Amino acid sequence: MNLLDGKATSAKIKQEITEKVNEYVNKGFRPPHLVAIIAGNDGASETYVGHKEKACAQVGFTSEVIRYPENVEENTILKKIVELNNDKEIDGFIVQLPLPKQVNEQKIIETIAPEKDVDGFHPVNLGKMMAGLPSFVSATPKGIVELLRHNNLSVSGKHCVVIGRSNIVGRPVSVLLSQNNEYGNATVTLCHSRTKNLKDITKQADVLVVSMGKPNFVTADMVKNGAIVVDVGITRIKSDKTKSGFKLVGDVDFENVAPKSSYITPVPGGVGPMTIVSLLLNTWQAYLSNIK
Ligand code: GUN
Repeated sequence: MNLLDGKATSAKIKQEITEKVNEYVNKGFRPPHLVAIIAGNDGASETYVGHKEKACAQVGFTSEVIRYPENVEENTILKKIVELNNDKEIDGFIVQLPLPKQVNEQKIIETIAPEKDVDGFHPVNLGKMMAGLPSFVSATPKGIVELLRHNNLSVSGKHCVVIGRSNIVGRPVSVLLSQNNEYGNATVTLCHSRTKNLKDITKQADVLVVSMGKPNFVTADMVKNGAIVVDVGITRIKSDKTKSGFKLVGDVDFENVAPKSSYITPVPGGVGPMTIVSLLLNTWQAYLSNIK
């Protein structure tokens, strides 16, 4: 078993981004600037946005968080988005999901200018990705592909089984892995809550990507010997073994699946750091187009 170390891989990519930022700043350009909007009191969202801010500072980007209370009106956020769309000093921005129930997420996403949509959630970016055109690819699917690529793991000709069909992870990653390019060319099966005989399918997987948000769902009997296992799940559960009283667990029963796999991502330290660094890569891409 080899660990697919997202922490180490993302550190390498961050170093490369830092060098490029320094080069541009030394030439007299301003650094890249990312804005995050967060509405309500979702604890996980606060943690994620905190990680994103910290990562920006590490590579020399500037960043800003705009916060709204739980009872914010949809229109307030829409107006702010239009303002950010028109601000030349902002290269990209994200609206952290989930949003309070009175706010229509799809309307919010569709108001973001596609060229500033560094989360890659706008239908224009999703459509371009589907067509294999240059676009912002959402951070988690991009991070998974980058993690495999940086560890010299080709999926070409392999059977990739993805569990979970969300717009943010499952569906886009299944498109990327099946695309006709050097990072794709896999045969992909997309499984979800209505899939019958799930275990029969997962046992055929050369590469298993799990994104369902159910702690320890994938057990050793569901995994083929030598499979590459990518665990996107991250759930905080109570634990009497840690100081905080909580621990983070993935969707894969790591302890029992790891010995069977050829490569496996840990949780934490696998896909999570790759997601953050992919947002930085997207912001860098937006910056280069913006400062032209
Ligand atoms: N909520 C969970 N993951 C994400 C993400 O990657 N971006 C945003 N904006 N919200 C999220």
